[in-house]
Amino acid sequence: MGSCAHAAIAGCGTAPTWSQVYAQVIDGSCNTCHGTKVGAGGLPIGNTADSAYPALVNQSTPDNSCNASLYIKPGDAVASLVYLKVTGGGDHGCGGKMPPSGGPLSSTLSNLVKDWINAGAKK
Ligand code: HEC
Repeated sequence: MGSCAHAAIAGCGTAPTWSQVYAQVIDGSCNTCHGTKVGAGGLPIGNTADSAYPALVNQSTPDNSCNASLYIKPGDAVASLVYLKVTGGGDHGCGGKMPPSGGPLSSTLSNLVKDWINAGAKK
């Protein structure tokens, strides 16, 4: 929405794509823990863009203490637990910031996630 903070990756005037979000943010930073290992936050997403998308978009967290119920709510980044956890801002209410070490994500990357979600989180 007028935000061009992700421009370095996706360019202005176009919504970021899921492949960009997966390649730049998820792959290597998240699936190292959330890929195939079960147990890490109860969020196994696999190791491909095709497996991670349905594991996240419109999927609910089983953790009732989280203030956002969906991992990714299309059109609403601030109601999406993934966005809240990577920015660590908004009171997500459960657990720590993601990734737990080596973070936080740069603002370019967190804005890439935000702009993709707010543009409808399309695959
Ligand atoms: C070093 C391992 C590790 C990495 C890397 C990691 N996580 Fe996590 N994640 C965890 C653990 C452990 C938990 C459970 C504790 C917590 O919520 O802090 C968790 C919890 C979560 C939850 C909450 C799950 C729920 O249903 O309560 C989300 C969402 C999440 N991670 C997203 C991400 C994202 C997005 C990335 C990449 C930017 C990421 N994580 C990177 C280990 C990791």
